[in-house]
Amino acid sequence: MKAVPKSLLETSLEYDLDSPSVIEGEYKRRILTGMRPTGLLHLGHYKGALENWLKLQDEFHCNFLIADLHALADHPDDPNFVKENIIEVVTDWLAVGINPDDNNIFVQTGIPELGELTVLIQTLFGFNELMRNPTLKSEIRDLDESNKGTTVSFATYPVSQAADIIGPLGDLVPAGDDQKPMIETVRTISRRFNRIYGDKTGFKLPIPQMLKSDFGRLVGTDGSTKMSKTRGNVIGFSNTNKEIEKIVNKMPSSGKSISDPGTTEDHLVFTYLDAFYPNKDELKELKKAYRKGGIGEGEVKSYLKRCLVEFIMPIRERRLDLSNNKNYVIDVIHEGTKKTRVEVQEVLSHIREAMGLFTFTE
Ligand code: TRP
Repeated sequence: MKAVPKSLLETSLEYDLDSPSVIEGEYKRRILTGMRPTGLLHLGHYKGALENWLKLQDEFHCNFLIADLHALADHPDDPNFVKENIIEVVTDWLAVGINPDDNNIFVQTGIPELGELTVLIQTLFGFNELMRNPTLKSEIRDLDESNKGTTVSFATYPVSQAADIIGPLGDLVPAGDDQKPMIETVRTISRRFNRIYGDKTGFKLPIPQMLKSDFGRLVGTDGSTKMSKTRGNVIGFSNTNKEIEKIVNKMPSSGKSISDPGTTEDHLVFTYLDAFYPNKDELKELKKAYRKGGIGEGEVKSYLKRCLVEFIMPIRERRLDLSNNKNYVIDVIHEGTKKTRVEVQEVLSHIREAMGLFTFTE
């Protein structure tokens, strides 16, 4: 197993890999990560998460979570929207190349034990502590401002997220910067569990670490800091070639004339080429020529159009095949959820035992 580069690890490792774990055999670090099913995925998801997952899935045992409960917490009056998007998001994952045979794709509400685990670990985290979470605070502010209001489920989702990670014993959590406070929450809970119950019983939880992606966040096609559907600045896996070309044509550019020398830094089209152009040497040459002068915006954009069309076309086609084969996608979800559920059940029974809960016999 390859070591994880230190630079990508957000927090220090406190977990002694020889300490007890319920996973039998040689200890292998385990990935747990997920998304809320709230819409079709786009290039922002690819750069911020999926590209990284594709690399990790060959190295680690991965559990990929569809956080449908968190989506419901956010869209309580629209359960069908959430349900449909479970299939859409898994279709997107499979279309980009997530391998469901060696990894588990699972749905949060398909594992009721995660609810039980949430309730148990809620005793290990302070209410005021939770309310200090800066990501949660700004999400609650947005919900209240949009008049949707905040459900209890939403207000406490960082604890449910901790259960998602602890349940399948995830110890590496690939996530974006905004998820850092959530990782701090699960680390705090796991440390407290170990101090109160683990030292006495010998059953200890790993202290999860957050794993950053190489690229970070992709800016929107309008140049604003985040690609997001509500801002209408996305390129999605379902976009046609024509749509992709149209979006690139609309991207802001420098407006320089062809013969002028140009700068490639802070140039949106080059930012995208940096993210997606497959041949780095060729891109270097293009940048050199652009800086010298003689290359116009139209030509640079045509490079980007070609490269994005070539990138998205095969994903879109696989997506279409999968959409015509919905039963396969549903099977993948069932199988992955069943396998992860067995893992969670085992961990939960150890946690109940370590916590010294009243035992019931049939
Ligand atoms: N909160 C995450 C998001 O909005 C989704 C999520 C739920 C998650 N549980 C998780 C991510 C556990 C990583 C680990 O994207």
